[in-house]
Amino acid sequence: MSLRSVAIGCDHGGFPLKHTVMETVEALGLKPIDCGTDSEASVDYPDYASAVARKIIEGEAQRGIVICGSGVGACVAVNKVAGIRAGLCHDCYSAHQGVEHDDMNVLCLGARIVGANLADELVRAFLEAEFTGEERHERRKAKVLEMERTQKPL
Ligand code: RB5
Repeated sequence: MSLRSVAIGCDHGGFPLKHTVMETVEALGLKPIDCGTDSEASVDYPDYASAVARKIIEGEAQRGIVICGSGVGACVAVNKVAGIRAGLCHDCYSAHQGVEHDDMNVLCLGARIVGANLADELVRAFLEAEFTGEERHERRKAKVLEMERTQKPL
C-alpha cells in the first residue's frame, strides 16, 4: 500500500508539537490530515486517537501519528481499534524498526517528552520506513492479527 496521507491527532498536551509534525509530513511530500485538537484547551485524548484510527481504517490515510502529553494515553487508546498497530517511540531506532518488523501504522509521541527537533527525526524515521515482509515478521504479525480477531482471554 503506497503511503500518501498521514492522519495526525493530538490532545491539549500534544498540541504544542502538532505543527512541527504536520510540517515534517508535508516536507516529505505527504498529505497531512489534521484530526485536531486545535488549541491547548483541555480535551480527552481517546477522541483524537479514535479520529486518527478511523481515517486509517476507512482508507483515507495509510499511517497515523497521535500526540498527547506523554504519548502513553494516546497509544493505549489507539491500539484498541482493530487494524491499528501503534507504538510509543521516542528513539529513532524504534520508530523505523517498528515499521520494518511489526508493520506499525501509528506513531505515538509525547509532547512533554520530546522536543521539535527529535520529533522531526522520529516522524521521518517512521514515515520513511517500510515493512520488510520477511517470513518471520509476517508470521508474527499474523499471530497478532489472530489475537485481535479472536480476542482470546489469557
Ligand atoms: C493530559 O494532561 C495528559 O494526561 C495526556 O496528554 C496524556 O499525557 C495522557 O497519557
